[in-house]
Amino acid sequence: MRVLSGIQPTGRPHWGNFFGAIRQYIDLQNDHDGFYFIADLHALTTVRDAKTLRQNTLDAALDMLALGLDPSRATLFVQSHVPEVTELTWILMTRTPMGLLERCHAYKDKKAKGLVADAGLFTYPVLMAADILAYDSQWVPVGQDQVQHIEVCRDLAGSFNHEFGETFTLPVPKTLEHGAKVPGTDGEKMSKSYDNTLPLFGDVKAIRKSIMRIVTDTRPMEDPKEPEGDHLFQLYRLFASDDEVQSLGQVYRRGGFGYGDVKKKVADASEAYFAEARDKRVELEKNLDHVRDVLAKGAARAREVASSVLARAKSACGLSA
Ligand code: TRP
Repeated sequence: MRVLSGIQPTGRPHWGNFFGAIRQYIDLQNDHDGFYFIADLHALTTVRDAKTLRQNTLDAALDMLALGLDPSRATLFVQSHVPEVTELTWILMTRTPMGLLERCHAYKDKKAKGLVADAGLFTYPVLMAADILAYDSQWVPVGQDQVQHIEVCRDLAGSFNHEFGETFTLPVPKTLEHGAKVPGTDGEKMSKSYDNTLPLFGDVKAIRKSIMRIVTDTRPMEDPKEPEGDHLFQLYRLFASDDEVQSLGQVYRRGGFGYGDVKKKVADASEAYFAEARDKRVELEKNLDHVRDVLAKGAARAREVASSVLARAKSACGLSA
């Protein structure tokens, strides 16, 4: 079963990204043929600085490898290293109704905010469809916000197949479980747009400082508290064993504890949890040639598949080989 997912290189991953998505799709490499790519062509619609885009793309590869993506099982590559995808995008574009794209929320939202949209943003879902179809992907794990784009992909593939005969494999969206709820430093859902994130990588001391500044409720320390629904408790639960969670739960119910202690526990537990990935990332940073080699091999493998799908599509619609 081929599973495919794309990650936009637009910033540093945070706890919410990891527990909400990254961890889940890296896990899929164990019993699927995983294709994972860094969507630099998509990021080009928002990241306008060349140096930043280049750095973000490499950073995203380092992140994925440090977090356990195993290039001997899965294929990791950079979107723009597979030119077949952009060629396929054009073919799909010639059969994409304008109305279909006008209904897509990423474009609609930007327009509603009065932002100037370019053709890249407008046709973003077609590029995404090409990403998926180029590798005969069967399963596409995405967050809820991307499900509409998978529907567009299925629409485009279905009507192409109808017009020209079976050419593309129709993908099925696999909506990621919300899984663990990850609150941010203000107690709301952790999200880049709320500016309340805690990063996976970076200066451990600075991260610890942010943890110590997490807002808490104002009830007196002595009062017994129900741990469920407390965001510090939820954060602790991401990293701690069942026994540890149980015993902290008892402390909450007994009362008389300080939130400062809980924050320390969160800091310690999260540091231990990400220690291995952090060390691995430092190693990888020292060995960028290796990382580039992984990406080159990934692209070669991806191109093999994409070129055969593209040949199929070209021949179906009358472009001579
Ligand atoms: N648009 C996706 C996002 O922002 C990233 C992406 C690009 C993607 N191409 C894809 C995801 C193909 C899954 C399949 O998250």
